[in-house]
Amino acid sequence: MDEEEIPKQWYCILPDLPKPLPPPIDPSKKAPGPGVAPLIFPKEILAQEFSKERWINIPEEVRNVYRLWRPTPLYRAVGLEKALKTPAKIYYKYEGVSPPGSHKPNTAVAQAYYNMKEGKERLATETGAGQWGSALAFGCMCFDLKCTVYMVRASYDQKPYRRVLMELWGAEVHASPSANTEAGRKILAENPGHPGSLGIAISEAVEDALTHEETNYGIGSVFNHVLLHQTVVGQEAQKQLELVDDYPDVIIGCIGGGSSFSGLFWPFYYDKVSGKAPKDVKFLAIEPTACPSITKGEYMYDHGDTARLTPLFKMYTLGHDFIPPPIHAGGLRYHGKAPTLGVLTQEKQLETRAYNQAEVFDAARLFAKTEGIIPAPEPSHAIKGVIDEALRCKETGEEKVILFLLCGHGHFDMQAYDDYLRGKLPPYEYPEEEVKKAIRRLRELYPWLETLPY
Ligand SMILES: Cc1ncc(COP(=O)(O)O)c(C=O)c1O
Repeated sequence: MDEEEIPKQWYCILPDLPKPLPPPIDPSKKAPGPGVAPLIFPKEILAQEFSKERWINIPEEVRNVYRLWRPTPLYRAVGLEKALKTPAKIYYKYEGVSPPGSHKPNTAVAQAYYNMKEGKERLATETGAGQWGSALAFGCMCFDLKCTVYMVRASYDQKPYRRVLMELWGAEVHASPSANTEAGRKILAENPGHPGSLGIAISEAVEDALTHEETNYGIGSVFNHVLLHQTVVGQEAQKQLELVDDYPDVIIGCIGGGSSFSGLFWPFYYDKVSGKAPKDVKFLAIEPTACPSITKGEYMYDHGDTARLTPLFKMYTLGHDFIPPPIHAGGLRYHGKAPTLGVLTQEKQLETRAYNQAEVFDAARLFAKTEGIIPAPEPSHAIKGVIDEALRCKETGEEKVILFLLCGHGHFDMQAYDDYLRGKLPPYEYPEEEVKKAIRRLRELYPWLETLPY
């Protein structure tokens, strides 16, 4: 596929959801409302967030940047298939070829572009593993914006080279919780050695944007506009599979907030609902047992951040003040999941499974040995799901076509691989008591949530 095959439009799932998305709730009004969103996002991004249009044109300036690495390759995992002795065909779409090394710049570049167009000078954001922060640093560099990144302390310490990458592209990086914001200072006063969490880092970045006129906020997942920017991935995969005359039976991806996987499967979901799919395709999401929002969480309204600056979203959540164990897949350490994934799960369009990091790294090693590419810890969760699916095909003799998203490389994750090789990776399981407590606190905080009609 050549450059001209880069999609010209993003696909928005909202008009095609089996049920309307419950609206965000402003807790101060106990009623629908966008909360702080209009103060921290450009108008075009807000319009996309609530878009009733199915197709949204990609600005040529954004496509020009995409040309640096898009279209991304689709590979057949012949080595992995052989090692598993499976009759299944395994394909993977590889997003690790982008300059920051993951799918994240598909939206970072778009967000930086719209903010530049609407006159903003700086974007503030959070980052877990450092993938999103480096993507936004890259996006801001492309459109001459400043960038401030609040990086979860645990990752800041584990992954110093992601910080260097962000700084090289011109961003300013703070370990979160930081002394730069009210939210950070409050947490540091209680616990100066706090490891941080994505929820806390989001609070810091949102506060930074709210308190500086020239600054907006950029988000790497969960929101509808982010997920729809990722649909270039699935649209390209559709064309690439057409070239080899194949169509998936099952599509697998990891979910932190849900952007990479949604980017891959939404266009296939559109095939399904518009009657174009040649067969019934199953969508399978994989999350960590340490942070199992869908498999063990509640489907209820919650904040996107720890300091409760964002409105309430109806989503699968473990509670906004739940701090997940410090697994190496930092990008999957988030208490909530995209609201669209919630509706699709409720309507039985999406299945989710959870794995622990020890079994996930076994899968990553097998993949690295058979396919050569070192996967990031996040998509290694998807690889574990793929291996189990392919082994099931071996038992039943089914020649299924499996498509999965390898959404990033693991070149900056050598500490994690070192820990794995030396047997130092705890297989964190579901922290049941902590989750129960966090959900109880949420119910006590907003007892009126039960009375909402959504
Ligand atoms: C490589 C990689 N994959 C997956 C994720 C999870 O996010 P999402 O579910 O939005 O794709 C992250 C998040 O930082 C990431 O860096």
